[in-house]
Amino acid sequence: MESMVAMETLVSLCKRRGFIYQSSEIYGGLASAWDYGPMGVELKNRVQNFWWREMTQLHENIVGLDASILMHPRVWEASGHVENFTDPLVDCKKCKQRFRADQIPEQNMETHACPECGGELTDPRQFNLMFKTHLGPVESDASLVYLRPETAQGIYVNFKNVVQTARMRVPFGIAQVGKAFRNEITTKNFIFRTCEFEQMEMQFFIHPSEDGKWFEQWKQERFEFYKKMGIRESRMRFHQHGPGELAHYAKIAFDIEYEFPFGWKELEGIHNRTDYDLRRHMEYSKKDLTYLDDLRDGERYIPYVIETSAGLTRTVLTVLADAYDEEEVEGEKRVVMRLHPDLAPVTVGVFPLVKKDGLAELAQEVVRDLREDFTTFYDQGGAIGRRYRRQDEIGTPFGVTVDYQSKEDRTVTLRYRDSMEQVRVPIAGLHERIRQAIKEYRRVD
Ligand code: GAP
Repeated sequence: MESMVAMETLVSLCKRRGFIYQSSEIYGGLASAWDYGPMGVELKNRVQNFWWREMTQLHENIVGLDASILMHPRVWEASGHVENFTDPLVDCKKCKQRFRADQIPEQNMETHACPECGGELTDPRQFNLMFKTHLGPVESDASLVYLRPETAQGIYVNFKNVVQTARMRVPFGIAQVGKAFRNEITTKNFIFRTCEFEQMEMQFFIHPSEDGKWFEQWKQERFEFYKKMGIRESRMRFHQHGPGELAHYAKIAFDIEYEFPFGWKELEGIHNRTDYDLRRHMEYSKKDLTYLDDLRDGERYIPYVIETSAGLTRTVLTVLADAYDEEEVEGEKRVVMRLHPDLAPVTVGVFPLVKKDGLAELAQEVVRDLREDFTTFYDQGGAIGRRYRRQDEIGTPFGVTVDYQSKEDRTVTLRYRDSMEQVRVPIAGLHERIRQAIKEYRRVD
């Protein structure tokens, strides 16, 4: 079993290579807020695109949506978030630290002793995780709005619109990617749990009698998705929610967990939300959200929903942690990010062996040709070995080196990141070679 990367090592690589920076760093940073740098934003976009393609392009019965973050405040009353989206909190009267009552040892709760300083803890009280703000210039109860804590509600309130305008028939799904906000109390472990994050959610509308079948299908499909992305299966598992863990809307819930450097944690939730959300929105909006099923002899019903809810930013952390690898090559440490080529921020690094004798010009010609189809990075600075290492650290799967022979016969060296194997390839055949290698990519442990 390969050893696991330490979080400090990963955080430091992310900063050094332009993946992720602390937010507002020049002011000392803001707790739990992170910015995605040039490599990070490419990686995040690619993770998002991978998911979007999987959900919409590869499923003819799933369509997309992009709903707004601010919604009518009644949405959150109907959804149950105003009443139920809370964490139990306790404060230490001595050191003034605040803890989630369900995350400190039971013994401390029984004795009311602070787990940090032994001081006296207050009784637990419920704290709502939704951020509030005001719409318009007057800060009153009437102008109160929330930053959405999940993207799902934007889908439910548009259910009727999508049925009517996109002519979708049950069973069908609506997929959405977007920001969500939660006033989390414990935010640590880098981008794992933050107050501002992104979700990739899909709500699948079904006939109520088929919830078992669809739940099982989505559970398996979502697990396969991460394998397809190159995540190691040995670091993934399912966890079923017990009665005390279930969200207020869920009848059954399974998490896909990943073994992060800080332990097994939730990566994605698959929930059977029944007709809870649509029913509640019917009650609160007084609009008819039932569905007339002409494939079932005109039966009218409120569809059940199987939800697949993944964190985009949390998946980025998973991909980074899973990709990190160190090995010894010729007596030196090689750090390599074994990212799936579809996710790597740069697909091909192009290097002239030396700058002179027309090699730089030929290498730039190769870049101009490749960048129509691939993200490329041109680097002519320093020893070739060091240039390879820099690309290994950001996970660039292919390196193309232009040397003196290239001038003679228009061939180049193609280097594979994972095996470090180098093959001679005609410039004219590079595209096809790289495209094929991406298609055939398999993670080697
Ligand atoms: N719509 C259902 C829902 O939001 P959830 O289990 O609360 O369910 C789904 O969240 C996913 O969103 C989680 O599995 C996780 O990947 C991500 N997520 C939740 N809270 C997060 C946070 N504070 N920071 C980063 N990601 C978060």
